[in-house]
Amino acid sequence: MNPLVPSSPAPPTPESPAGPPVGIVGTGYVGLVTGLALAELGHPVICLDVDRAKVAALRAGQAPFHEPGVDALLARHRDHLRFTTDPAEVFGPCPVVFVTVDTPPGPSGDADLSRVEAVVAAIPTGAELVMAMKSTVPAGTGRRITRHLRATGRHGVRYVSNPEFLREGSAVPDVLHPERVVLGADDAVAADAVAALWAPLGAPVVRCDVASAEMVKLAANAFLATKISFVNEIANVCDAVGADVATVARGMGLDSRIGAAFLNPGIGYGGSCFPKDVAALKQLAGNSGYHFQLLSAVIEVNELQKRRIVVHLADRLGQLQGARIALLGLAFKPGTDDLREASSLVLAARLAAEGATLVVHDPVVGDHALGLLPPGTAKVARAADALAGADAAIVVTEWPEYLDLVRPEVAASMARPLLVDGRNLIDPEAAASAGFEWVGVGRPDCFPAQIDLEAPAAVPVAGS
Ligand code: UGA
Repeated sequence: MNPLVPSSPAPPTPESPAGPPVGIVGTGYVGLVTGLALAELGHPVICLDVDRAKVAALRAGQAPFHEPGVDALLARHRDHLRFTTDPAEVFGPCPVVFVTVDTPPGPSGDADLSRVEAVVAAIPTGAELVMAMKSTVPAGTGRRITRHLRATGRHGVRYVSNPEFLREGSAVPDVLHPERVVLGADDAVAADAVAALWAPLGAPVVRCDVASAEMVKLAANAFLATKISFVNEIANVCDAVGADVATVARGMGLDSRIGAAFLNPGIGYGGSCFPKDVAALKQLAGNSGYHFQLLSAVIEVNELQKRRIVVHLADRLGQLQGARIALLGLAFKPGTDDLREASSLVLAARLAAEGATLVVHDPVVGDHALGLLPPGTAKVARAADALAGADAAIVVTEWPEYLDLVRPEVAASMARPLLVDGRNLIDPEAAASAGFEWVGVGRPDCFPAQIDLEAPAAVPVAGS
């Protein structure tokens, strides 16, 4: 019998968890949702974090971020989840410890592994545990950590790479219904211990060596980012030749070799993962002497895509100096309040640099966002208030509630009813019939019949 696989006379249930506790180090998206999923599978869970305020909030049942389903699971498993800042509560009682700390990009483009290193340093000599790495790390990291653990006498620590594929906004269902579980280990006993935890989910398991598991994660994210940059370039060509990218993407996506997912063009990918992981893979290849040309283009296309809309807008309005622009959505995608690498921040900075005045709205992002936006930016609680008096509005994040703005009275409240749909969220014809001048990404513009296209383009700002 595998001594590391939690055993119990009766299968554990969420109501009566059984077996030894599972440890989680780092309570960000990946850590907290992994912990909640394990609680849902019937395990007691102990979560460690260095951030005292976060631990205090979690003990009080408050999630540190907006993520659908997290609050409900926190409440449901209150009695079986422990939050602590004391490493001894995890490195001792927990036979399996998931490492889920962040690995942000360092100044050179390499992943900054200092938080992972701090976790390794906190494991005491004599510890007997499986360290299951969920943080995204460069290929080769697991091998280095294993060597370091041996060199420092911690022979009882076994290493498994178990990358995570959850998406923000759908993190809970993604973790509870994974399309695959990847387990990279040089030690079958350790891999079995982690496999046993995820076995009830019934996902296909990819067992491999540690470096290959690390590469699966980086390659998957880089491929998805490549798909987005590819469809963004197709959209730009569609703009140039008068084709409709929505139809093109549908026609492409029905080919099962291509697939329909991640073929939505827009104003670039953001978030805490794609920008960082694409840069990290490019850097990892470069460090090994290989120039990953394709990824350089993927990154460049993404950067240009964020700025392209500013040019569109300047063409329409004649000038941006003094124009009042509404930004609809700040989060890097719907379903989250995460602003990391959000296209909204680049767009806002560029528009302000051109002299525009900004009014922003987001249904979940808090007022702390104002600290990241240009001085003078106004943030409003109702989306319709952002549009009132604006010379143009840009859909930056495809929050479904923005579909409710497609009403004649909202269009009429704008100084000019120009709606630049940076995510192709809104049906162009519905927008035009409500009185908007609709401009999308890679789709033909759609204007209401009554718009006089010969009218002077530059729009003076009310009150200026
Ligand atoms: C991404 C991956 O999808 C997850 O599988 C992975 O686990 C995660 O990174 C990670 O490494 O932790 P996430 O960043 O949460 O997840 O969000 P996505 O839904 O992948 O979206 C990323 C960005 O791409 C967003 O800015 C989104 O607007 C953009 N996107 C996505 C597009 O522009 N077009 C698309 O068709 C899809």
